[in-house]
Amino acid sequence: MKFFVDTADIDAIRELNDLGMVDGVTTNPSLIKKSGRDIMEVTKEICDLVDGPVSAEVTATDAETMIAEGRKLAEIADNIAVKVPLTWDGLKACKVLADEGKMVNVTLCFSANQALLAAKAGATFISPFIGRLDDLNVDGLELIADIREIYDNYGFETQILAASIRTANHMSECAKIGADVATAPPAVIKGMANHVLTDKGLAAFVADIEAAGIKIL
Ligand code: G3P
Repeated sequence: MKFFVDTADIDAIRELNDLGMVDGVTTNPSLIKKSGRDIMEVTKEICDLVDGPVSAEVTATDAETMIAEGRKLAEIADNIAVKVPLTWDGLKACKVLADEGKMVNVTLCFSANQALLAAKAGATFISPFIGRLDDLNVDGLELIADIREIYDNYGFETQILAASIRTANHMSECAKIGADVATAPPAVIKGMANHVLTDKGLAAFVADIEAAGIKIL
């Protein structure tokens, strides 16, 4: 499973990228707002930092302007994936931009029907939002499994980019289901390393090292 980092924080991306943990980056208007930076400048900096796809979201809601914005975003770098919302206008923009050879990430997906439409519109990535379904006591991971089944039934090439990931459990469950990509905040990715028994076991090793005076250097 590919790991994308869901942030516009350059330092956080760099830290994980140096560890080889970054296969791509996703941003959205809320993450750009949080960065406090100009969308074009911060997106360019991210594209220069990572080799994989970098999702940058349009601001318009009508197809014509989404297409114009998507073309401008795609000029930033070859690894730009234009992000459009899963609306009828977004699907129209997806089709036009995908036919022009641009990567398109269709976002704000909350149903298997929406994911079917995005695949037929030529989306490179579909972004089903797990956490926001969980917030409604709907099983977000079940949506990932449904889309995986449907896409595999018909050989759709659209990649499932699991999004709105809130926990380390979401990451491992998405990997078990077979999501192509999971995009998560840096803290969630780093949190995947945590386990209380690891901490307990290491503390016991450190105590024995000190008690026995074990030295390597
Ligand atoms: O990529 C989508 C993600 O940023 C949304 O996450 O936690 O706001 O639902 P969240």
